[in-house]
Amino acid sequence: MSDSVHLTPLHRVSVTHAAGWHQVVASSMAHDLPGVPPPGPGEIHAQLTKPTMDSHRLTWMATGSSGAPVAVAGLRLFASPGRDHLAELELHVDPAHRRRGTGSRLLSAVVAACRTEKRRSLMAEVPGDSPGAAFCERWGFRRALTLDHLILRLAETDAARISALSDAGHPGYRLAGWTGTVPDDLADAFAKAKNAMNDMPVGDLDYGSVDWDADRVRTMAQVVDRRGDTLLTLAAVHFDGTMAGYTEILLPQGAPPRAQQYDTAVVPAHRGHGLGLWLKAAMVRRLRAEHPHVTEIETDNAEDNVHMLAVNLELGFRSYRRTHECQLDLPAA
Ligand SMILES: CC(C)(COP(=O)(O)OP(=O)(O)OC[C@H]1O[C@@H](n2cnc3c(N)ncnc32)[C@H](O)[C@@H]1OP(=O)(O)O)[C@@H](O)C(=O)NCCC(=O)NCCS
Repeated sequence: MSDSVHLTPLHRVSVTHAAGWHQVVASSMAHDLPGVPPPGPGEIHAQLTKPTMDSHRLTWMATGSSGAPVAVAGLRLFASPGRDHLAELELHVDPAHRRRGTGSRLLSAVVAACRTEKRRSLMAEVPGDSPGAAFCERWGFRRALTLDHLILRLAETDAARISALSDAGHPGYRLAGWTGTVPDDLADAFAKAKNAMNDMPVGDLDYGSVDWDADRVRTMAQVVDRRGDTLLTLAAVHFDGTMAGYTEILLPQGAPPRAQQYDTAVVPAHRGHGLGLWLKAAMVRRLRAEHPHVTEIETDNAEDNVHMLAVNLELGFRSYRRTHECQLDLPAA
């Protein structure tokens, strides 16, 4: 059925390819995720052309008989020790060209590349009850983790309460904040705190683990910066110099109104003192003061991450949508 569709691996992504890619993703998301803003053309161009953290990307484009793009596939191949058996799939078919086998052809090319690259596991995030979920089921992916996505609309938050939470005393701790790269005097402590994320609930997902050090946290900030995005961090620093917890917000390039929550973590020894709520409330206040174009924050939680979910609900985040992390196990041929 998809004979007139031509598949090409993109070895170099041009501006035209990126524009075509954006078109496919935007129409696919408008169909399956109405109300979820797609990445802008500049964001897509940066995602496809700028270096990523400890990984590289392979890309394919499917074009129709007119030469116009009808589907795209991206494969992220992780390179760091502990994750170098993993790959992550992004696959979109334009709604007008679905159910003709194009998604399956792209998946075959992706799986072949996974085998060449000796990957044992291919991950994909799909919306709940969607064509993506049915497609993954058809091709033998298992559903490894369900994520609740939540939204906080800043105009609906109670500013007085956010201020009270941000100003609440937490004896023995101080707040430190930065934009972009962590200040040198906090870099080692920050890397140690980042390792606390390795115990976040991931259901049955084989997510690997990452070993953070000061160089790695600096590299991550540079990668975000080169993409044109902005990373804001707030940390709770214990009087002994340990970083007890931190929260990160990503502001995508082009100043869209929606910010993305990245990590929030509290180190096990410092849990149970309300530091998560303190950090997140202080971040809301900082966004309001410094980035007034931001009107909402999207976050996602593993559905069984009850503590993080409780913090988010307490701040005013509300359920928005669900996704599933699916995983295809690729035994060595
Ligand atoms: C998921 C997606 C990539 C499928 O693309 P596609 O070209 O329509 O896929 P195919 O035609 O190769 O479908 C193969 C099989 O998957 C299953 N499938 C695909 N879409 C389905 C749907 N809407 N409902 C039920 N089953 C579906 C069917 O078994 C289908 O075989 P059939 O048409 O012979 O019944 C496309 O719907 C899409 O872009 N969705 C949005 C993005 C997304 O969720 N990506 C998934 C990342 S893995």
